[in-house]
Amino acid sequence: MTTTVSKTEIKQAVEHRRNFAIISHPDAGKTTLTEKLLLYGGAIHEAGAVKARRAQRHAVSDWMELEQQRGISITSTVLQFLYRDYWINLLDTPGHQDFSEDTYRTLAAADNAVMLEDAAKGLEPQTRKLFEVCRMRDMPIFTFFNKLDRPGREPLELLDEIEQELGLMTYAVNWPVGMGDRFKGVFDRRQRQFHLFERSAHGSKEARDTVIDLGDPQIEQLIGPELYYQFKEELEVLDEVGPELDLDAVHAGQMTPVFFGSAMTNFGVELFLEAFLDYALKPNPRESTLGPVPPTREDFSGFVFKLQANMDPRHRDRVAFIRVCSGKFEKDMVVSHARTGKQVRLSHPQKLFGQGRESLDDAYPGDVIGLNNPGVFAIGDTIYQGEKLEYEGIPFFSPEMFAYLKNPNPSKFKQFRKGVAELREEGAVQIMYSADESRRDPILAAVGQLQFEVVQFRLQQEYNVETLLEMLPYSVARWVGGGWDALKQASRLFNTVTVKDSYGRPVLLFKNEWNCQQVESEHPKLKLSSTAPVV
Ligand code: G4P
Repeated sequence: MTTTVSKTEIKQAVEHRRNFAIISHPDAGKTTLTEKLLLYGGAIHEAGAVKARRAQRHAVSDWMELEQQRGISITSTVLQFLYRDYWINLLDTPGHQDFSEDTYRTLAAADNAVMLEDAAKGLEPQTRKLFEVCRMRDMPIFTFFNKLDRPGREPLELLDEIEQELGLMTYAVNWPVGMGDRFKGVFDRRQRQFHLFERSAHGSKEARDTVIDLGDPQIEQLIGPELYYQFKEELEVLDEVGPELDLDAVHAGQMTPVFFGSAMTNFGVELFLEAFLDYALKPNPRESTLGPVPPTREDFSGFVFKLQANMDPRHRDRVAFIRVCSGKFEKDMVVSHARTGKQVRLSHPQKLFGQGRESLDDAYPGDVIGLNNPGVFAIGDTIYQGEKLEYEGIPFFSPEMFAYLKNPNPSKFKQFRKGVAELREEGAVQIMYSADESRRDPILAAVGQLQFEVVQFRLQQEYNVETLLEMLPYSVARWVGGGWDALKQASRLFNTVTVKDSYGRPVLLFKNEWNCQQVESEHPKLKLSSTAPVV
C-alpha cells in the first residue's frame, strides 16, 4: 500500500512540529521542568503527575521488578503535547544512575536539546557527556538555569563557564534580577519587560508572575534600588558588549539561547517555552545514502533509534522506537526494510505517553512511534517507501565500564550464547572479546552500571541463565582508525590492553584518560576515536 499524501499536508505538519530532549545532571530539575512544560500543553492536569506515575506504575511485573527494586526509570519515553498550534515532542532521556546507551541514542532522534543546569552548580559531569553527543551532531542547544529561588552562582559567571568550557556562544534571552531570598524575577529581553517573582503565601509552590514594562517608574521601588542598579549595569553589558541573537548560529549548535527561572515555582517556564518555539529547529533534512532527505519528501521514511524489551509485562513484547524523518506514517502501511530488503507491514503502531500507550493512526516528521518488534528491527535500521535509502547509523558510544560475563553452568552454554547475542543485537550492551583469545568469556562494555544489571536480570528472566560478573579496571575505550593494520605498524603500546568489538575491530582499553593521552602523544599516527565507526 502506498499512501496518498500531499506535500502541503506534510509541509504544514513539519512547520508545526518541534522536538527536543532535555540533557541534565540528576537533581537539576528535569522531572519538575517536564511536568511544568506538560501543564502548558494541557497534557496532564496536575503538576506531580509525572512523578506520581513514576512511583505507582506497574505494581506487578517481572521486567519492571528491576525498576522497582532500584526505584528508578529505565525506559525512556516520549511525551507529545500541543501548545499554541505546535505539536511538541519531548524525548525523555533517562537520567540518574540509569544512564545507559539509550540516553545517547535518544539524542540521535532529537532535533534540539535543552540543557538544564542547577544555577548553584553550573555544568555537571552527566550534562557535559550528553553535551558532547549533541555536539557530534551540531544540535541546537537551549540552556535553562534552574532553581533561581535558591542562592546560586553569578549569572555572568555561569555564561562564562559555558563559553569557556563548551565553546558555545551564549545569548541571554532573559536575565535574572537577584537570586535566592532576593530573587525578584527575570527581565525578558524579547519584550523588554520585567516578570516579577512573588512567592505565594501559604507555602504554595506556584509563584505569581506580574509583568511590568522596563520604562515603568515603579520598577526601582519594586525590586529595590540596589538590585535595580546592578541589573541596569548588567543589561548594558549584555546589550552593548554581548553578541546579537544569531539564529543560524543557534541552529548550527554554535550559540545557545539562555533562560533563567525556577521550575518548581513554575517561574520563567512559559517564557522559555514561547521563545523555544520561535527559535527551535523544526524537523530538518537528514543525511542518507541519497544525500540529505527533506522531511517534506512525500514518501515515508524513518529510522530505529531504540529498542525496548518487555515494556508491557502482560505481553512480554519488544518495542522498536522509530523517528519519522519524512512523509506521513499511516497505520498498516507497508514499508521496505533497508538492511534486510524485506517488506514489513507496520501494524499496531503506538504513540507513547510516559508509560501509557495509545494506538496511533498517523505520524509526521519529528514524531516518534513505537512498533511491536518481533525481532525485525535493530538499532539504526532504516524503513522507507519509494526509492531506497538508508540513514546514517547510530554510533556505538564510548563505554566506560567493562566486565567479563561468566556462565558458571556449562549445561546452559547454548542459552547463554543466544542471550548474549540477542541482547547485543538489541543494543542493550556492547560486547567485546579478548584479542588474543586467551579468554572466551564475553566482555560487557557499558556506559552505566545499570546496563550490567539489566543484562544479568534479563539473561536470568528470559534465558534462564544465572551469570557472574568480573569487573575490569578500565574506564576509557578507543577504537583504532585503520584497524589491525594500523595497530601492527605502531610500536609497543604501554598501559593499555587490546580487545575486539563485536565486528572484530580493535579497541584499546585504558585505566584512565591520562594513560590514553600518553599513548596518543607517543603514537601521533595512531588515530584513536571514542566512538566506533558506523557500520
Ligand atoms: P531530576 O529529575 O533532574 O533528577 O530533578 P527533579 O525534578 O526530581 O528535582 C530534584 C529536586 O530539586 C527536587 O527536590 C525538586 O523539587 C527540586 N527542584 C526542582 N526545581 C526546583 C526549583 O526551581 N527550585 C527549587 N528550590 N527546587 C527545585 P526533592 O526535595 O528531591 O524532591 P521533592 O520532595 O521536592 O519532590
